[in-house]
Amino acid sequence: MSLPFTSPSSATAPPPLPSGFAEGLKDVVLPDPLGFGKLMAPVMAIAHYRDGSWETPRLAELGPLDLAPHTQALHYGQAIFEGMKAYRNLGTDGGPPLLFRPYEHARRFNRSALRLGMPEIDERVFVSALEELVTVLEPFVPARRGQSLYLRPTMFGATADLSVVPSTEFCFVVLATPSDAFFTTPVSAWIERHYSRAGAGGTGCVKAAGNYAASFAAAAPLRENGFHQLLWLDAVEHRYLEEFTAMNVFVRRGDLLYTPPLSDTILAGITRDSLLTLGPSLGLKMEERPVDIHELTDAIRAGEDVEVFGCGTGAVVAPVELIGDETGMRLPLPSQETALELRGRLLDIQHGTTGAPDGWQHTVAPLPDGPQA
Ligand SMILES: Cc1ncc(COP(=O)(O)O)c(C=O)c1O
Repeated sequence: MSLPFTSPSSATAPPPLPSGFAEGLKDVVLPDPLGFGKLMAPVMAIAHYRDGSWETPRLAELGPLDLAPHTQALHYGQAIFEGMKAYRNLGTDGGPPLLFRPYEHARRFNRSALRLGMPEIDERVFVSALEELVTVLEPFVPARRGQSLYLRPTMFGATADLSVVPSTEFCFVVLATPSDAFFTTPVSAWIERHYSRAGAGGTGCVKAAGNYAASFAAAAPLRENGFHQLLWLDAVEHRYLEEFTAMNVFVRRGDLLYTPPLSDTILAGITRDSLLTLGPSLGLKMEERPVDIHELTDAIRAGEDVEVFGCGTGAVVAPVELIGDETGMRLPLPSQETALELRGRLLDIQHGTTGAPDGWQHTVAPLPDGPQA
């Protein structure tokens, strides 16, 4: 008898898109509301890394990946991802969908890859794969402001081998899901007092899949108490704000808007960076500085003009209406105007109804030498 699964290569390539498949997608009618990440578009982009190089990504019908149970990523978590969006161009002259700052996402994907001992992928190949996918899935880019085709580039170690060594083969897949914004109403934030999201020298500053798994147990009391998001504190003193599970955090006091400085425990959010750029146009003074949780809760209790919000690709900007924790503390936050104003400005840019800095509005145009279906 021949032994099963002895091949070092786990992931096998799915067949290319059948001819005429893309034409068949044109009449799709999207439900409304869409939810977030529930409805998968029927096409993905996929490429494998073998013998030291990437093959060109190509389109395939969305379907199961054929993986051996001893695929490296399943055991040792060598897996990373990005979250980004294609928006319907709602500008006066319309045009193809817009990607928001895709080269920033490509660069962060490569930083994540290097941190987890994985191969980088050429930024142009990364963006070209997204363009090709969004072009075929254009009917899945929803029409309403705030909705988008959420894109999920991911990479995982595909070698089938149980020894604790880095994979030598990798799989790059881009999935797409037509979605509403992750939060469409203000959120409640639960201060996490025990667990930590990230430690110095760890993987908190990149999008490693395991960072998110490590937050799930901590989220149980949050759900039991009807809260939406964990607000993480630093791992050393449990005193300084870090970020939410999938959003960076901002605090406004009067005309001062501040956010914790980047470190190896905080993800360099592309939305965070965008808000730091846009804030001054609202007359706000921007600061990147440590935020002590006691300073924040004291200011809210004292009735000061305080606002807290999260920001990220999924949520865009999410005002926080309530902060609580396990001690029974419940602090309502009535003010949301800065969050809503910034959200509006960002959506104007993302949907192409106003101008933006270079590279923020990337019109989807498949490159001639891009991935082929
Ligand atoms: C941990 C974490 N922080 C912050 C963010 C926000 O980053 P971005 O604005 O680039 O989506 C995300 C989402 O990607 C995240 O997962």
